[in-house]
Order: sequence, then C-alpha cells, then structure tokens
Amino acid sequence: MPPAAELETVLRYHERTKHHFHRYAAGPRALDWANQPDPFRRYAGAPLVRLARLTPDDEPRSPPYEAIYLPHGARRAPLNLASLSRLLEYSLSLTAWKQAGGARWALRANPSSGNLHPTEGYVLIALPELGAPGLFHYAPREHALERRAEYAPESCERLLRALPPEAFLVGLSSVHWREAWKYGERAFRYCQHDIGHAIGALRIAAASLGWTALLLDGTPDETIARLLGLDRDADYAGAERESAEALLAVWPGAGSGALPLAVDEITPERWYGSANRLSRDEPVPWNIIDDAAGATRRIRGQGQNYRPPKDTAIVTLAPNSPPAGAIIHQRRSLLACDGKTAIGAARFYRMLERTSWMDALPWPPAIHFALFVHRVEGIEPGLYALARDAAKLELLRASMHREFAWTRPPGCPETLALYLLQAGDARELASQVSCQQDIAGDGAFSLGMLAEYQGTLVANGPWFYRRLYWEAGAIGQVLYLEAEAAGVRATGIGCFYDDPVHEVYGLAGLAFQSIYHFTVGGYVDDPRLTTLPPYE
Ligand SMILES: Cc1cc2nc3c(=O)[nH]c(=O)nc-3n(C[C@H](O)[C@H](O)[C@H](O)COP(=O)(O)O)c2cc1C
Repeated sequence: MPPAAELETVLRYHERTKHHFHRYAAGPRALDWANQPDPFRRYAGAPLVRLARLTPDDEPRSPPYEAIYLPHGARRAPLNLASLSRLLEYSLSLTAWKQAGGARWALRANPSSGNLHPTEGYVLIALPELGAPGLFHYAPREHALERRAEYAPESCERLLRALPPEAFLVGLSSVHWREAWKYGERAFRYCQHDIGHAIGALRIAAASLGWTALLLDGTPDETIARLLGLDRDADYAGAERESAEALLAVWPGAGSGALPLAVDEITPERWYGSANRLSRDEPVPWNIIDDAAGATRRIRGQGQNYRPPKDTAIVTLAPNSPPAGAIIHQRRSLLACDGKTAIGAARFYRMLERTSWMDALPWPPAIHFALFVHRVEGIEPGLYALARDAAKLELLRASMHREFAWTRPPGCPETLALYLLQAGDARELASQVSCQQDIAGDGAFSLGMLAEYQGTLVANGPWFYRRLYWEAGAIGQVLYLEAEAAGVRATGIGCFYDDPVHEVYGLAGLAFQSIYHFTVGGYVDDPRLTTLPPYE
C-alpha cells in the first residue's frame, strides 16, 4: 500500500472507532462467553524453565521506590537468572488472583484493558544458566520461560554486538483477538495502550535493578516477527496469531549516547513448540483491525526519530519511600472513588513531572495532558493543560479555546508547563466525557492524553500511530505507580467520548486527539472480592 493510502487507512480507523454520545464504536452485539480467549499462551513441546519465585528479601532486593527516578539511584544488579526473574516479576508476572463467588481471575504487574491481556512477552538472551543462547516465551501463570529457539553462540553474539555489554532483547506482541472478542473495532487501540504499559513496566523494572531499557524503534516489524518466530505458520496451526509490536534492548547499567535502534535478523539452529489455541471457535473477523495493523507496519528503511536517552534526574524525591517492589505488587486499578480524598499540590506536580522521566521511547514527547482537577489542595479546581514538551506549549495554546486564561498555578515548578485554563467544578463534565464513568469525576483529578496527531503521522509515517499509544501507555504506567506511592490509586480509561473531549478544550481538526484517559484518587475496595497470592 503506498504511504498516502496507509495514512488514509489509519485516519479512517481512528475516526471510525471513536465513541460518540449516541453511538459507540462497533463491537460484538453480545459477549460470547463460551468463546472467550484464554489469557495464557503456551507452546506445547517447548522446554520449560521455571524462574525462582523470589521473596522481597531475596537478591536482587528492591531499592526504595524513589530511587528508580535517580539516574544511578538503584544499585546495579548483576545479570543472572535471579535478576532476570525479578525483571519479569516486576513487569509482566501475576501479582494476585481475585475471586468473587465462583469466578477467579489473575491480575498482573502490567494492567490491561478489560483485564484481557493481549500482550505476550519474549526474551532473547545468552545467559549460561539457561543453556544455549535462545529465544524464550514468558509464561506469566507459571512465572517460567518456554524455550522457543536455540541459537549458535556466534550468531547470538552477532545479533547483540552493537548493543552495550550483557544486553539482551525483550520482544512484545499482541493477540488482537483477545481484546476484539470484547471490544470489537476499538480493540486495536487498546492493544497498543497495553503494549505501552508493558514497555513502561519493563522500563521501571529495569530501573529498579539499576538497568536500562530502550525501544529499538528502527527494527522493522518483519524482523521482529522473524526474531520472535511469529511468522512460523506451522507453529500456529489452528492457533490465534500474534502481531509483532516492540523490541527493547535491556542491559545492566546506564544509557549510552550511541545506540543502534535496530537489530538484524539471525537464524536459529532449532525451533521448539507449537502455540495453544486460545478460543474454542475461530476468532470473529474484525477486518478494520487487520487494516489498521497493516497500515501501521514499520517497514525497512523508514525514518528514525532517535533521541539519546536523556539525563533522567528528578530533583524532588519524596521522603520515606516504600520499596519499589511493594508499590509494583500493590498496583491495582481503582474500581470506585471515595469522592473525598484530596492530594497535595506538591505531590500532584511531582506526579506530572515524573511522566517525563519515562525514557524508554526514543522520540520527543508527543503526548500532552488536558486535565480535569477536582481535589488538589492549594490549587483551584478546573480545567488545566500540561505541555509535556514546553516547545509545544504555543501550539497547544493556539489550538484551544481563545478565552482560556493560561495562568500558572501557585507553587508550580518552573520546569512544568502546567496552566490553569478555566476555574470551576469539572467533576460532572469529566465523568460525562469518560463514558459517564464516575471514577473520572470522583477522584482528585483525571486527564485526557492529547496526542500530537496528524502532524506526527505525516512527519514520521502511519506507523507512528501505534507509537502514540505506546507513549500514552508508558506514561500511564508511571501514573499508576505514582498514585500508589501517594496512597491513592489510578485507573486507565479507554472508554471516553472522543470528540466531546476535544470540544471541552476547543480542539478542532486533527492537530491533537485525545487517545487515553486516566483518573487518580482516593478509592474504595469492593468487599465482595477476595485477594489470593499470585503463585501457590
Ligand atoms: C488501556 C486500558 C484501558 C482501560 N479502560 C478502563 C475503563 O474505561 N474503565 C475502567 O473502569 N477501567 C479501565 N481499565 C482498567 C482495567 O480494567 C484494569 O487494568 C484491569 O481490569 C486489570 O486490573 P489491574 O489494573 O488492577 O491489574 C483500563 C486499563 C487499560 C490498561
């Protein structure tokens, strides 16, 4: 497909999957429970390596949560099977089982729209404790690695040679059907949000080990599919396919200024295993998702938007920090707000600042915030805007209602381009535009993530559509943990009325589009739910 046609396909997908006050994006008429996809992929015949289930006291131990925001704050853990286990525990593992009546479901370190978990994780690594260098699929229910492929040591070395010492690869893929089963056409968006959350979770987990994680953004999707074995038809006979998404380099230590953003294909000596079938019946086809996936493919030779990892020093650290591992394990989406808890302004500013710490994505920030502030002590309730890249402030200002005030809230750090647009009670409005969900109006604040939309798609290519969601998801992961650290809780909100949000802020045209909502606030637990440990 020529690029112009691909761009049109993406714009059409986005337009068509908007929710409107009186019409939702197309989805299944009823949920076919008997055909619900299994959230756990396994590869039959693949040798399984169980990872140690570490206690908080086992090495590597978690640093204080605050330390992950310092460039060299967390002690650098050596790369071995225990630290790899920690990395996966803090990013993709189960963190609890929930039970209500006869129903039981698992929660993970990474959140997922509808808890459907379309994201699969892979590790390509040369680690003596694992035997021959290889590609492994991560099985979260077992906290284990399934060996998918075996490499000759010299070809693995060739693959990783341009990366820092001891670097290994983490690959992510999506099973679109897992989300489409429930959400229909809008599901492609949710799969991309979830990839962003997984990238964010991996970056945070790496930081807790004193490691770095960086998206190898120049690697074509075809290469990722080959490296992860997703193109092997025979291994997916009768099983739902996975779409190649992201490839990250992870290594012990800090960032380096000159990193390649792509790796080449290498051929393994041997493959193992065949994928399980996830649904009883054939997936229901949602052609528009296939179209969007096809149009947003990253192909060889497309431009790269590389930005070396920046100095991630955050100057304001909260005192008495609990361990990062505790915050990661306790992260949950709030189900209902208490409608009264407020947070302090300093905490609010720090939360917003920290969304800029996320450095796993090698492009300048393309997501800004349209905020609905309800209960932040010391600042007025109302509508606010945050330019996450101060260079975009004027563009944002020029795109919004002319009558907005653009005044600085009291005590706001210079480095934070946060502005009050209009004071007032925005609680009802916030809920209304978030598909009437009370959680958006009853918390301390909620926000819409405004993507620099058409401009970035034209400048970079339609593949950047997926990246916008990844950035939104990765930011969301920081907000989730920041909320837990502040004693409140957050929830990602994928259900919102797209254009009504734009109208609130006066955003016309396609310069900005809200692509993800978030709420943060005091929460009330559901007493009917029992919590069980993640692993026996
Ligand atoms: C992309 C995304 C969209 C979500 N949308 C909503 C939403 O619209 N409303 C809601 O109540 N929860 C929403 N959630 C929260 C999920 O339901 C929640 O992450 C999932 O049930 C797993 O629970 P946990 O976050 O506690 O692990 C969303 C989560 C993600 C990641």
